[in-house]
Amino acid sequence: MGGCLLDPVMVGPYLLKNRFVLPPLTRSRAGAGDVPTEMHAVYYAQRAHAGLQITEGSPISQQGTGFPGTPGIYTSEQIEGWKRVTDEVHRRNSKIFLQLWHVGRQSHTSLQKDNALPVAPSAIAVNGQIFTADGLQDFQTPRALEREEISDIVKDFGAAARNAQAAGFDGVEIHGANGYLIDQFLCEGSNTRTDEYGGSIENRLRFLREVVDEVVSVWGGERVGIRLTPSSTYGDMFSSDKFDVYTAVVSELNKYNLAYLHLVEPNISGSETVEAAEDAIPTSHFRSIYTGKIIAAGGLSFEVAEQKVQTGEADLVGFGKAFMAHPDLPLRYSNGAPVGEPERETYYGGDETGYTDYPSCVDEDYFARLQAALESGALNRQDVLASLNAGNPLEQIDGGLYYSRLKLNREASK
Ligand SMILES: Cc1cc2nc3c(=O)[nH]c(=O)nc-3n(C[C@H](O)[C@H](O)[C@H](O)COP(=O)(O)O)c2cc1C
Repeated sequence: MGGCLLDPVMVGPYLLKNRFVLPPLTRSRAGAGDVPTEMHAVYYAQRAHAGLQITEGSPISQQGTGFPGTPGIYTSEQIEGWKRVTDEVHRRNSKIFLQLWHVGRQSHTSLQKDNALPVAPSAIAVNGQIFTADGLQDFQTPRALEREEISDIVKDFGAAARNAQAAGFDGVEIHGANGYLIDQFLCEGSNTRTDEYGGSIENRLRFLREVVDEVVSVWGGERVGIRLTPSSTYGDMFSSDKFDVYTAVVSELNKYNLAYLHLVEPNISGSETVEAAEDAIPTSHFRSIYTGKIIAAGGLSFEVAEQKVQTGEADLVGFGKAFMAHPDLPLRYSNGAPVGEPERETYYGGDETGYTDYPSCVDEDYFARLQAALESGALNRQDVLASLNAGNPLEQIDGGLYYSRLKLNREASK
């Protein structure tokens, strides 16, 4: 059945308007104090065409921060900033979950309080480089967490989950993917602990279970999702027993009646499509053991996404880069409009360029009409600019005024 991605679906208590998911996309544009700005509200409002949005990774503490400019969820200013985002998304009949993030060893002293070392299950450095405010630098050897510190981090997840409630989110997604802290506990390559958090699969799973317990105690299971990358080596991750580890994790998750399990496809490394590893575990394996809703994401075309929904391998589908470049992706899908790639140079950091200036079909249409009126002299350019600049950007998003405002201001400053 064509068009099935537009079918409504229940996720937890929510009736979603379609099966399109905006997956988490770090864009490193937070303001001072890692606070979400008006630009974030515009960005997420523009993408409210998705049935469900998941925010970019949001650090649960300064210690959990791994990139400059990632909007956090541990200060009152950050909560206020996110409120504007959730308000705008709800106004447009979409739902939004916050991705709770602790990067563990994928951080740098320059991002930590008092230039402390990043923390991890064990003192094993990522083999690779990290993007810092001073450019790319080698990963440092992290400090192994003390037993009591692990409980503190679990509590930080709980506090962040409560902050997400205060900020008006519909739920939270636990970031268990991409070689960050939860993943670091799961895999042998980053966890050589000899206490109850290391060694056996049961022990390596303990931290994940404690985090899920804590977050579920705040939100209830049906408003909590979790993201996993069972086949990825991103973040220098390896474990000889990955199949058994992730099979055990997913079986365990069945107990929580979660909103969803979010699985990244085996041929994705971080943000890039790569050749899947020989020991990759197909999403279909997890479908056969997981009893709740599954979101599949990573390198999906509309056709493959449709197949996944039609066969039941996934209930919802995430499109990352496609949604970056096309805020109204579901409309493009129903209209058969072409889908392009976003500009790589503007993925991380910067202003509206490559962030909120990708047009929807409505934006393009409106701007063409405005330009025609300006060129014919029916409208005066100065008057139009003055009027647009006097308006509230958040009120200008849907009808094409916000896009036109950006375009005309750029032309005027040339
Ligand atoms: C710029 C960028 C930032 C990303 N940030 C995150 C993130 O914060 N959390 C996360 O779980 N995945 C992140 N990802 C991975 C995406 O959610 C997605 O899994 C990946 O882009 C593959 O999907 P796609 O081929 O549809 O883009 C990021 C990807 C990109 C391109």
